[in-house]
Amino acid sequence: MKDKSLVSINDYNKEEILKILELAAEFEKNPSQNILKGKVIATLFFEPSTRTRLSFESAINRLGGRVVGFIDSSSSSVTKGETLKDTIKTVSNYCDLIIMRHPLEGSAKYASEVATVPVINAGDGANQHPTQTLLDLYSIIKTQGTLDDLNIFLVGDLKYGRTVHSLLMAMSHFTTIFNFISPEELKMPDEYKLFLENLGLKYYEHTDFTEIISRADIVYMTRVQQERFSDPMEYEKVKNIYVLRNHMIRNTKPNMRILHPLPRVNEIHPDVDESEKAYYFQQALNGVFTRQAIISSILGLK
Ligand code: CP
Repeated sequence: MKDKSLVSINDYNKEEILKILELAAEFEKNPSQNILKGKVIATLFFEPSTRTRLSFESAINRLGGRVVGFIDSSSSSVTKGETLKDTIKTVSNYCDLIIMRHPLEGSAKYASEVATVPVINAGDGANQHPTQTLLDLYSIIKTQGTLDDLNIFLVGDLKYGRTVHSLLMAMSHFTTIFNFISPEELKMPDEYKLFLENLGLKYYEHTDFTEIISRADIVYMTRVQQERFSDPMEYEKVKNIYVLRNHMIRNTKPNMRILHPLPRVNEIHPDVDESEKAYYFQQALNGVFTRQAIISSILGLK
C-alpha cells in the first residue's frame, strides 16, 4: 500500500482491505496522534462534497498534518484553461499526497499517472468512490461482526451511484448475496453484473423491496444522482421512487442496519432516524477513522 495510489477499490486485495479495517479500529480507539507532523496533503475538489472532504480534513488535522487545496475549481487556475495534467503536476510539488474528487470518470486514474505523489480517488463521476467503500465495509463489520454470508440490499440509483459500484466489487471478496433494487432506468450496469457472474456470485434484481426487506442484513440506500442526468424530465420520473419509512422496517432482522453514503434527499424519511437500525450518521463518523487508516498506510506511517 505504501506510496500506491488508491484509484479503484480493486487496487486493494482482500488482505489489504482487511488491514485497513484493522487499522481503522485502532484509530477509532486513538484518533488524535501526531504521526502526520510535517506532512502536507492536498485536497482538490472539482465537485461539491461535505463528508468526504471534511472527514479527510478532520482525519489529517487529528493526526497533526496540514491541508492545502481548493473546494471549488472556480477559485483555481482551471478557470483560466489550465489542464488537469498541469494542475496535478504542479500540486504534486506542494504536497506528499493528493486527494481528488472530479466529475469525469477515469480522471483519478489519469491524475495518478501524471502525479509524482500518490493520489486518492475521492469520487470520479459515476465510476468509483473507494474510500467510501472502505468506510462502508468498516461500518458493516462493526455492526454485523463479519463481512461474510451477508444479504445486502443495494437500493436506488444503481446506474450512476459510484458508491454501490465500489461496494459491490469489495463485497465480492466475501460470500455475499446481492439484491439490487432499482427502477428499470437505474439498474445496475451490465459490466458489474458480469463481474459478479464471472466470480460465480449470485445477485437478484427487484423493482420493489417492501415484501423482501425482512431478509436483509444491510439495506444500503442511495440518492438518485440528479447531477448525472442529461434530461431533467428523466430525473423527475424517478427521483422519489423509494422512500424508506419507519413502519417498513418493523419486521426486519434484529441485526439489520440501514446505511446511506449521504447526502440523502427523500429516500430515507426522518422518521427512521431514531431507529436503532439507522446507522448512516455513525457511518459518516467512521469515515474519519477509515481515512486515517488509508492515509497512514499510503504514507508508510503504519
Ligand atoms: N458520501 C459522500 O461522498 O458524501 P459527500 O458528497 O458529502 O462527500
